[in-house]
Amino acid sequence: MDSLRFYVQTFGCQMNDHDSGVLARLLEEAGHLEVARPDEADLIVVNTCAIREKAEQKLFSQLGRYRLLKDRRPDLTIAVGGCVAQDAGRRLFRRAPYVDLVFGTHALQDVPDLVARVRRTGRRIAATPEEQDPERLEAFYAHHRARAVTAYVTVMQGCDNYCAYCIVPYVRGRELSRPADEVVAEVERLVAQGVAEVSLLGQNVNSYGLKPRGETDFPALVRRLARIPGLLRIRFTTSHPKDLSDDLIRCFGEVPALMPHIHLPLQSGSDRVLEAMRRRYTVGRYLSLVERLRQARPEIAITSDMIVGFPGETEEDFRATLEVMERVRFDGLFSFKFSPRPGTLAARLPEPVPEPVKEERLARLQALQQAHTLERNQALVGVVRPVLVEGPSKAGGGQVSGRTPENKIVNFPGDPAWVGREVDVRITAAAVNSLRGEVPAAPSVGPDHRPGGVACTFR
Ligand code: 5AD
Ligand code: SF4
Repeated sequence: MDSLRFYVQTFGCQMNDHDSGVLARLLEEAGHLEVARPDEADLIVVNTCAIREKAEQKLFSQLGRYRLLKDRRPDLTIAVGGCVAQDAGRRLFRRAPYVDLVFGTHALQDVPDLVARVRRTGRRIAATPEEQDPERLEAFYAHHRARAVTAYVTVMQGCDNYCAYCIVPYVRGRELSRPADEVVAEVERLVAQGVAEVSLLGQNVNSYGLKPRGETDFPALVRRLARIPGLLRIRFTTSHPKDLSDDLIRCFGEVPALMPHIHLPLQSGSDRVLEAMRRRYTVGRYLSLVERLRQARPEIAITSDMIVGFPGETEEDFRATLEVMERVRFDGLFSFKFSPRPGTLAARLPEPVPEPVKEERLARLQALQQAHTLERNQALVGVVRPVLVEGPSKAGGGQVSGRTPENKIVNFPGDPAWVGREVDVRITAAAVNSLRGEVPAAPSVGPDHRPGGVACTFR
């Protein structure tokens, strides 16, 4: 097939971001060339998100713009993948007839072939297999290449939890863990390419190794990865509070490479609402997890997800959420208005919360969280933290940017040669979204573990 210029656009979560990155490498290896703008492309790939209605609306207005490009250039191929594609399948052609290819969440590996077929035959294709083929999944992630100091690594796909509001189990399918040996091999490869930090991805990493039943559970996987020379930092997301194990909590105290940050979605501070959401834990259990995490690693940063306006949520339920926030004092919080998703249990529940009430609750919650985020960030002012330098700061001006172990962004004057290394930085100022820092005249800079670096111990 001819070499195509392709452009990839991503909506949604880190998993989608990561899949889009690997898909781009796969297309490159098939002889195509990535371009930075859609109007330069022969192939536009959109990786979609279905988690809330708003994401879907954004997708269709974006597709409308791509249609205008196609009106001018009929040989443009438009491919739509990801969660919306999995859910809609061929129905997507009805709403957007100018789309040429629909590929589901289990068809990533097939995209180069599907694109070739569409261009050869001029016929539309929808490929949305229900099940993931483990071997094809491995073949897909084999194309993962390091592009930065930090990298995502998918350890499991899908979700079997069926929280009442959530479309993920319907569009991402059943839980499937990758073999531990494959994950370890991928991380070793990435480290050899210069990666210093990996974030392990899964809808619920606590179920890692259960389906199919593997020899390794998630804490054991973390411990194995921590032994890889040159890998400085390990993170993971997401963890479901109902099955966060004692062993994983212990890892935070025992494994120095496991960074002191956990994303632990609470969703609501009312037991009544949590039950209706089918979350299968109570506020009491959540608070005890927070306490034990802080015992294991006092500096741990805790972030969370919260939904306001779940059907039946009263003012009293909502106040309970604010109270839990006051007690925990999250370092950061992603908060959303409940959005009914087709096919989910919650979409059929009575007592919807009116839109203006949802909006008002969201605003109150976000104002409180801003204060907490700022308070937690300000607590770091004056403290020295090791910062893994990721690159030049967006602010420019000779600044570099990196993250503390707690996953907070720090901008500080520094040397671009520090990229990929940990530098001790004194935090001098804190805002809601980032920190500022400085290094002493004789900075303490960690070894360069990257290939060709001064202290490359693993070759
Ligand atoms: N409406 C609003 N928020 C949702 N989330 C998932 N489904 C919905 C929905 N239907 C939120 C949850 C989840 C995060 C990724 O998105 O908080 O943790
Ligand atoms: Fe959705 Fe619940 Fe699974 Fe998270 S655990 S992906 S919220 S069903």
